[in-house]
Amino acid sequence: MLSQTSFSLLVSAAAVSVTAQYCDLPATPQWAATPDAPLALPMHNWTSLKDFTHVPYQGQHLVYGSNVNNSTYGSMNFGLFKDWSDMASASQNGMDSPTVAPTLFYFAPKSIWVLAYQWGPTAFSYRTSTDPTNANGWGAAQPLYTGGAAGAPYGPIDQTFIADDENAYLFFAGDNGAIYRSIMDIDNFPGNFGTVSELILNDTVQNLFEAVQVYKLKGQTKWLMIVECQGAVGRYFRSFTATNLAGNFTELSGLESNPFAGKTNTPITWSNDVSHGDLIRSTNDQTFEIDPCNLQMLIQGHGPSDAAYNDIPYRPGLITLQNPGPVIGGSSSSSTTLKTVASTSHSTSHSTSHSTSHSTSHSTSHSTSTTSTKKPKPTKTTKTKTTKSSTKKAGPTGY
Ligand SMILES: *[C@@H]1O[C@H](CO)[C@@H](O)[C@H](O)[C@H]1NC(C)=O
Ligand SMILES: *[C@@H]1O[C@H](CO)[C@@H](O)[C@H](O)[C@H]1NC(C)=O
Ligand SMILES: *[C@@H]1O[C@H](CO)[C@@H](O)[C@H](O)[C@H]1NC(C)=O
Ligand SMILES: *[C@@H]1O[C@H](CO)[C@@H](O)[C@H](O)[C@H]1NC(C)=O
Ligand SMILES: *[C@@H]1O[C@H](CO)[C@@H](O)[C@H](O)[C@H]1NC(C)=O
Repeated sequence: MLSQTSFSLLVSAAAVSVTAQYCDLPATPQWAATPDAPLALPMHNWTSLKDFTHVPYQGQHLVYGSNVNNSTYGSMNFGLFKDWSDMASASQNGMDSPTVAPTLFYFAPKSIWVLAYQWGPTAFSYRTSTDPTNANGWGAAQPLYTGGAAGAPYGPIDQTFIADDENAYLFFAGDNGAIYRSIMDIDNFPGNFGTVSELILNDTVQNLFEAVQVYKLKGQTKWLMIVECQGAVGRYFRSFTATNLAGNFTELSGLESNPFAGKTNTPITWSNDVSHGDLIRSTNDQTFEIDPCNLQMLIQGHGPSDAAYNDIPYRPGLITLQNPGPVIGGSSSSSTTLKTVASTSHSTSHSTSHSTSHSTSHSTSHSTSTTSTKKPKPTKTTKTKTTKSSTKKAGPTGY
């Protein structure tokens, strides 16, 4: 946090020379594979590296992910590396206690690192640490979500977390065409979201599958949701935006022919899948901020394979957005300048708008037809108990 003095100085300096330069998301994104090859191969005879979560950490990249070793899911991190070209030689550190499909962030209000994951003691669990670089330095598993996911064949899957000034939000998928949300007071986090979730998007299994991620757009009171879908060619991401994390998410880019990111809009030869990963954030905190002016995505991809899903040889890859949306902002008024300076300080970037009560019924539903028509439907709120997870390791498709 900046002191008041340095803050004022920054504001004066900025008022003279800095104009807000924010980008929006393009409606029709174009990506490049940078490079058009995996960034790293699995070490330790592991079959695959998957489900990546990434934060900037002291000027370097910190990445956690799932790994598969002889058909068994585990988790790992990479040793810190400065440039993506160094990822191949970074250490790969297996975790004694697996955190599959992890979500990593710094929870600034309590000055603690959090790693959320699936297939722990509860539907979703988390562990905390003061040194996120140590793969085996995380504390004991705590419950993050103890409810179910109505209609989900393997229960709740692929959590992500995000917070605004007032609330913490858990979003997750179900491998069933539905996306769910749970909300809690930010003051109670780290803590358990409990058993209640709300179905916020519903489509076919193929058109809303898994790997949901939610991010704040730098300089805007606007959030992006991406969801991995199953296409004819491969996995791809669809996108939605909202002006309130408790509100409606409306479609930005669409299905496989016009995706947020997929083979259609990414010339990539080494993989047909643009699958489960993380947009490269501009902060490492609970706001999950991204900068659409400089957007990259860490993905999982793989070459041709006849293997069963769990044995597909996934590897990390990187894609870079080629056509940031129109620059927005640019006002030179002092209040706007102040906001600009505040947003560039990574610990002070928070939305101030949060006007919609989340106790009311908001739901955007998607028609299951092949058009992108959206029809309003009443919200379904699930109030389920923890599902007996005998199918835990059997999920043939997910994560
Ligand atoms: C990988 O497996 C091969 C044989 O399957 C074995 O010779 C080698 O020692 C293994 N390497 C590691 C790092 O476990
Ligand atoms: C991989 O799994 C095998 C058992 O299938 C185990 O012996 C080995 O230690 C594991 N290796 C790593 C690096 O986790
Ligand atoms: C891999 O797992 C199979 C089935 O559990 C087991 O038979 C085999 O020995 C394991 N391979 C290694 C290298 O540990
Ligand atoms: C999603 O909507 C379809 C009808 O369009 C319905 O059959 C299905 O049960 C819904 N899924 C969930 C999880 O509510
Ligand atoms: C969300 O969408 C529903 C259905 O379209 C609408 O009734 C509701 O007012 C919307 N809520 C917000 C906060 O925009």
